[in-house]
Amino acid sequence: MKQFFTMMATVALCLGLAACNGGQKGQKDCCQEGQQAECCQQEKGKCCGQSSDKPACCQAEQKDACCQSGQKAACCQEAGKPACCQAPTFDEVVASRRSVRSYDGTRKISEAEVREVIAAAQEAPSWINYEPTKYYVAMSAEKIAAVKKAVGRNADRLEGVSALIVSSFENEKSGFVDGRIADPIGNVWGGHDCGLSNAFLVLKARAMGFDTLIMGGRDADALRKTFSIPENETVMAVIALGYRKDDPKRPDRRPLDEIVKFF
Ligand SMILES: Cc1cc2nc3c(=O)[nH]c(=O)nc-3n(C[C@H](O)[C@H](O)[C@H](O)COP(=O)(O)O)c2cc1C
Repeated sequence: MKQFFTMMATVALCLGLAACNGGQKGQKDCCQEGQQAECCQQEKGKCCGQSSDKPACCQAEQKDACCQSGQKAACCQEAGKPACCQAPTFDEVVASRRSVRSYDGTRKISEAEVREVIAAAQEAPSWINYEPTKYYVAMSAEKIAAVKKAVGRNADRLEGVSALIVSSFENEKSGFVDGRIADPIGNVWGGHDCGLSNAFLVLKARAMGFDTLIMGGRDADALRKTFSIPENETVMAVIALGYRKDDPKRPDRRPLDEIVKFF
């Protein structure tokens, strides 16, 4: 009986918190940085903030951030944690991130949210803090169509995305010091840093309840033209950003001992 009441209380709390997702305007009115989840209950009806440093209860689609999409808030209860009302842990973010190839076009991510995702990518380490990674974000129907054209067969996987983000890196930055090559692999370090930034990007996106697909299958020349990407940049992956429609399966990984050696 006690368990039943605890469960009902958690579900009621989650539903109450959901009422905080009132829209885009006046988001700062509700939860201030550092406040706890309860602020949403007290302030429900007002809009809540989207920033990651505010409680996840205040973020749109907070349930998806912890529960797999399609599952109900009760899944959190079953998992023995009220995580539907809290920011997901790092392990939850890592475990629930997947390459998503089917998006829910009825739910859109705002430019402000994309900025927040890219700001996290900017926190990635880079060679001498050169930050060689650049992003070109397609959000208009016209630019999204142009990027879809440049990703060949991948286009079929992108119905309903909110944004398509082209990543590139500035050449002769990472791997170079004072303009001179500083390591035999030179610009490979630029690709390395761009990959690191993209890793931060996809994890931050998942922490906010969003989904991604990194695509290496793309026509770099077409993308360069579409976004007027300068010649001193190397076009890397295109990253789709949106909300998952279905739950993707986790592809198997190799046994850990095949990829690591301890000495
Ligand atoms: C550099 C890179 C390029 C990729 N290119 C594509 C692609 O063009 N199309 C695609 O559907 N998936 C692409 N993927 C996604 C991988 O297939 C996927 O990460 C892998 O199968 C593991 O699945 P998971 O991301 O769900 O863990 C790419 C991933 C990376 C990191």
